[in-house]
Amino acid sequence: MTHAPHARPLILGIETSCDETAAAVVGDGTQVYSNVIATQHDLHGRYGGVVPEIASRAHLERIVPVVREAMREAGATFDDLDAVAVAHRPGLIGSLLVGTSAAKSLAWARGLKLIGVDHIVAHLHACYLGANRDARDTAIGLVVSGGHTSLFRVHGPLDVEIIGRTIDDAVGEAYDKAAVILGLGYPGGAAVDRLAAQGDDHAHDLPVSRLARDSLDFSFSGLKTALLYAVCGKPLGSGKRFERDAGSLTDRQRADFAASFQRAAVTALLLKVNRALDRFDADTLLVGGGVSANSRLRTELEALARARNITVHLPAPEYCLDNAAMIAGLASTRYRAGTFDDWTLSASTRSGVLTGRVAV
Ligand code: KG4
Ligand code: ZN
Repeated sequence: MTHAPHARPLILGIETSCDETAAAVVGDGTQVYSNVIATQHDLHGRYGGVVPEIASRAHLERIVPVVREAMREAGATFDDLDAVAVAHRPGLIGSLLVGTSAAKSLAWARGLKLIGVDHIVAHLHACYLGANRDARDTAIGLVVSGGHTSLFRVHGPLDVEIIGRTIDDAVGEAYDKAAVILGLGYPGGAAVDRLAAQGDDHAHDLPVSRLARDSLDFSFSGLKTALLYAVCGKPLGSGKRFERDAGSLTDRQRADFAASFQRAAVTALLLKVNRALDRFDADTLLVGGGVSANSRLRTELEALARARNITVHLPAPEYCLDNAAMIAGLASTRYRAGTFDDWTLSASTRSGVLTGRVAV
């Protein structure tokens, strides 16, 4: 079989920031030739969250076969590549180290350019994957994931300014806690979303955080606690036991809680997006991160875009959750700009876009 030549720059992306071992080959920033994701959910599910030591060990076992599979699916050899890109921040340090070391070794061994990418900014690039559109928008950006809930002014694909962040839990984290409270397993955001479709979203009046009148920050811990008390009643003794648990709920009651939680969570997100659009001149909204797969959030953002006469770019469903295509995609913009990393590239638990306006 002969392949049409790949679009350039042709970049191998690697993503190991949390509990997915992922590799992808992307040409010209948007053409995804492969997007391989080995999830570890089966390993962490019974602990109700990611166990860092288990995650790094699993990344070590999987990284080589996952990279090989991405190259095979893309029909590319290492000689065809222009660069290797890796999410080197933020995330679990042991997990990030596996991807960062793999990317550095590969780039060193094959004489390829090395590009370290911030995972959070890459989530915004996911909107462009497969869309055959250039990443040139100046926009408001919303990243909603398991670890982050942040608003940005996107001055250009490599120039972002943070204007809002969560002061406690991330929205995805709140979804995951809600799933545990409702007995839906981990990670449970998608399960809460599905169940919410069958419930009455006004059954319970759960709190929508607003914070100060001009605040663009988010808060989700109050919503999580309100759901816990509504479902389980008052804490007993030390606070680890409650009057009841979700096991005593009927399916109908469980769905009503899921729908009411989803209404509060999505309303809180929309409130701050509207505030940001009121304050800053932008005709485009970029959205990314695992929670951008949420059905209600997508519907409400599309309605908001129509009402405000702006364009909203949502990632295709396969690019909402952690993936390496978004890493390689964002790296293409860096490749064109000619800004590369050297062998001192290191992993960091912190995002590089936590304050002010930064070049990424
Ligand atoms: O971006 P992501 O894959 O990982 C991080 O960077 O954190 O996001 C994962 C998060 C999890 O909290 C998961 O429960 C949530 O995204 N999630 C959803 C949905 N699908 C995934 N939350 C709400 N509704 C969904 N449909
Ligand atoms: Zn993510």
